[in-house]
Amino acid sequence: MSHLASEATSELEKRTAAATAAALVESGMTLGLGTGSTVAYLLPILASRRLRLRCVATSVATERAARRAGLRVEPFDTLDELDLAVDGADQVHLSGWLVKGCGGAHTREKIVAAAARRFIVIASSDKLVDELRPPVPLEFLAYGVPSTLRTLGPTRLRGLVSPDGGLIADYTGPIGDPVLLASRFAGIPGLVEHGMFAPELVTEIFVARGRDVERIEGRRR
Ligand code: 5RP
Repeated sequence: MSHLASEATSELEKRTAAATAAALVESGMTLGLGTGSTVAYLLPILASRRLRLRCVATSVATERAARRAGLRVEPFDTLDELDLAVDGADQVHLSGWLVKGCGGAHTREKIVAAAARRFIVIASSDKLVDELRPPVPLEFLAYGVPSTLRTLGPTRLRGLVSPDGGLIADYTGPIGDPVLLASRFAGIPGLVEHGMFAPELVTEIFVARGRDVERIEGRRR
């Protein structure tokens, strides 16, 4: 398949996955909006349904795009629980593990996913992987950076600061067992959040293949 054709397929799949998730949204819901080009397809679909929704956004880009589409977006200090959150992913493993945060928004994305009763992930088929691979996005405090970096091991600073003031970087070392790596990350002081999302956080993943959608169950109950 040519590069252009595979790009067109990927865009069609992003739209298909987004439309499948949009069908789960009902009027009156509180909704978490993820970040990225797949979520960008979700926003106009939702807006066109003219539902009564209260949304929170995981990034400035999503907040702007959602408002432009006509969705009502609130700061995430007025709601303490969400009915549903929908987000994309950089890598999807059949086990339900995800790598997220290529857009540097993984900290807010994880907070929103955890606050939602259901967390739905939407992806094109090129996101499915047999094995999770680096880089894994990280966000950490500027205080004590050299020491945090030394503890982390191979890490590349992106030169990007999150809207919450955290430094965005990528861990480039081996992943191995995702449970062990996530737990090592969780034990590093100064590391605010990492982009490994466990299956326990995920309700369901919609992976589009052409116009079909494959469903992968998460372990969120
Ligand atoms: C941003 C994310 C995105 O969900 C992820 O990067 C996927 O983006 P896209 O839908 O553009 O492929 O985690 O921090």
